[in-house]
Amino acid sequence: MDFSLSDEQLALQETARRFAREEVAPVAADYDRRAEFPRALIEKAWELGLLNTVIGESYGGLGLGSVDACLVAEEIAWGCGGIATSVVANDLALTPIVVAGSEDQKREWLSPCVDRFLLVAFCLSEPAAGSDVAGLQLLAEKDGDDYVLNGTKSWITNGGEADLFTVFATLDRSARHRGLCAFVVPADSPGIEVGKKEDKMGQRASDTRVLHFDGVRVPAAQRLGGEGEGFRVAMQTLDTSRPPIAAMATGMAQRALDEAVGYAQERQAFGSPIGSFQGVQFILADMAKGIEASRLLTHQSAWMVDQGQPASKYSSMAKCFATDTAMQATTDAVQVFGGNGYTMEYPVEKLMRDAKLMQIYEGTNQIQRMVIARQLLGG
Ligand code: CAA
Repeated sequence: MDFSLSDEQLALQETARRFAREEVAPVAADYDRRAEFPRALIEKAWELGLLNTVIGESYGGLGLGSVDACLVAEEIAWGCGGIATSVVANDLALTPIVVAGSEDQKREWLSPCVDRFLLVAFCLSEPAAGSDVAGLQLLAEKDGDDYVLNGTKSWITNGGEADLFTVFATLDRSARHRGLCAFVVPADSPGIEVGKKEDKMGQRASDTRVLHFDGVRVPAAQRLGGEGEGFRVAMQTLDTSRPPIAAMATGMAQRALDEAVGYAQERQAFGSPIGSFQGVQFILADMAKGIEASRLLTHQSAWMVDQGQPASKYSSMAKCFATDTAMQATTDAVQVFGGNGYTMEYPVEKLMRDAKLMQIYEGTNQIQRMVIARQLLGG
């Protein structure tokens, strides 16, 4: 067993770390306060090769794996959760093409993302179908060689900024998961209306939208996989996208620990730094062990993805464990900072707000427990 990273991985991690510390962290609070999407910064991430980690070398990509993607996600999330979500969600949105696209489709849709800065959004959730993917309602009706899409998507990350969407629709609502289909849809297709931007509690730099599809015509050549295969495409996508989410959570928790340790060494109470008191020491120790365990489980799940092993259970365990740990660690960091932690002058309240979303998106942690339990019980 070898826990060390390769020279290439260390170099990638260093690039992401420098970007996060020098360019993301200093502006994170401002973008968060203004709820503004940092387009130029995301473009810089693309220039540095930190976007599109899922694009293979045959399509012009860097041929990175899931462990590599996790190294990038952890570092950027250390700098800002919202900005990291904008980066990681782009890879999530490309994954259905990687999972189910034909050679021609991969060449047509993946390669341009390497040649120029394009953003992609993953359109799965709907107003009445977040956890229940098989219950989604956006209808795809066959019309000659085309499909016509009608319906609404919600909570779509990068929705107002994307050039391309990967969209999940149903051919037959009564067929539940067997009726689903996945498509690649250019964002400027007639009939797509970008709806309201969500005013969120945290991760406010990321762009989260409602999208309306009104008679959007999509050629059959843009269908990913066969009719009725959309559910499998969505699940396989989420199996590979959850480790980077766990890595993001680990990055946020690490930032919370770094901030809390620094504060505990400086802040004086009863004539000593507060870090000299066991009450604070135990909080920091619990944060540190939770973070290490998150990182190990995250890297193991990513390694399984890279090995082509069935990874659902481990991806769900990593996502659930790391995001619960991030929620606890960021809340604990606010506690260590006391009254100061509850103000916007210090960075930890943002970490706590940002961490909350990690337990909700990419499948709530209740859904992750369901996936794990079903595999344990053979359901
Ligand atoms: N891989 C391949 N096939 C799978 C699979 C997987 N991981 N999981 C299930 N399947 C297959 C099953 O074997 C079953 O096959 P059969 O047709 O042969 O029976 C079929 O798919 C149906 O499976 P289930 O009975 O398990 O389906 P279900 O309706 O009970 O739902 C679920 C399963 C796990 C709850 C699923 O709906 C789910 O993952 N929900 C969460 C959705 C989610 O994560 N959304 C995130 C949105 S993206 C986002 O948040 C990103 C962002 O903004 C940044």
